[in-house]
Amino acid sequence: MKKLQVELGDRSYPIYIGAGLINQAELYTQHIKAKQVMVVTNTTIAPLYLDKVLKNLQGFTVETVILPDGEQFKTLETVTHIFDKLLAGKFSRNATLIALGGGVIGDMGGFAAACYQRGIAFVQIPTTLLAQVDSSVGGKTGVNHPLGKNMIGAFYQPQCVIADADVLDTLDDRQLSAGLAEVIKYGLIRDLDFFEWLEANINALLARDKQALAYAIERSCINKAQIVSEDETETGVRATLNLGHTFGHAIETGAGYGTYLHGEAVAIGTCQAADLSRRKGWLTDADVDRIIALFKKCNLPTQPPEQLDSDRFLELMAVDKKNVNGQIRLILLSKIGVATLPIDVDKDLLIQTLNTYGRK
Ligand code: NAD
Ligand code: GLY
Repeated sequence: MKKLQVELGDRSYPIYIGAGLINQAELYTQHIKAKQVMVVTNTTIAPLYLDKVLKNLQGFTVETVILPDGEQFKTLETVTHIFDKLLAGKFSRNATLIALGGGVIGDMGGFAAACYQRGIAFVQIPTTLLAQVDSSVGGKTGVNHPLGKNMIGAFYQPQCVIADADVLDTLDDRQLSAGLAEVIKYGLIRDLDFFEWLEANINALLARDKQALAYAIERSCINKAQIVSEDETETGVRATLNLGHTFGHAIETGAGYGTYLHGEAVAIGTCQAADLSRRKGWLTDADVDRIIALFKKCNLPTQPPEQLDSDRFLELMAVDKKNVNGQIRLILLSKIGVATLPIDVDKDLLIQTLNTYGRK
């Protein structure tokens, strides 16, 4: 087992990475301070892993909430079901919430924990590659709004993250690829060596080679933990984790939540950001081709949906947390392995990308 640390003073916490961790009771119990525990999961994950988790919680008073599965259910209304269960069960302030699932469950469970009685402890047990390498680390929690992705939420850090690589065995190939999009992101924004490692090892990752996956999870979490420790609330460098996300969120919202997986939308958005970086004179044609080629190898989409024209893209991109005074701000690449901080983009160049990149 590897143990990394997110350094945030008295709110620091460990990330455990390894095989079979979901069965290690002491990992949970050392982070649960009182009797009441609420496990939040969904209808897909419950039959696979809920019993394994419950087995480790003997001696605690445990209840469960099993939510519907899907990005389209990442809403305030769904979070209300968690509050209903916490209140009906008379959960008090020293209770712990365990979020068992992918990024959707982690974001909603964390948000419920942040809000219930103004904050109860929570533990992240991420079960997708995307959640293990990104969403479970760093304390961004929240839900979508029909007008904008992740627009309602809170920064709220967990007590620990338990990333068990074995649970990825049941993840389908499309979801694995979506997780790889966020893995590639770390290489692009700050870790050229890792990007090159990914180019060399992508077939092993797609074949689910355990060693390769464990390395990719660990290296991604090291990058994420460093960024979060430096800039918890995204006043600076944390924004680089949003490479491709402003385009990607517009695609998710515009196409309807759940049509594209988050990682798929991020893959397309990152290619659009690379194209814009090329128009700025920062990336070469060969750099852009190299980035697109890696996403394609992962079987990820790289072209924006036809129904989103530039006007609709601009409308959707105007609802983004990085924007200031209504001005769209984007993360671009000054080269492969180095991201910019959010920059005001020249609207003509952006429109060129929106009208040209990936269009027939
Ligand atoms: P997800 O949570 O929808 O999970 C994907 C699918 O896989 C779901 O159907 C889920 O039930 C299923 N699943 C999960 N684990 C499984 C397993 N082990 N075996 C079989 N099936 C399994 O999607 P995701 O890609 O994990 O997360 C995407 C969400 O994360 C988006 O809402 C995105 O906005 C959010 N996100 C948040 C952050 C953050 O910092 N908080 C970062 C990145 C993404
Ligand atoms: N996934 C973006 C962040 O954690 O900041």
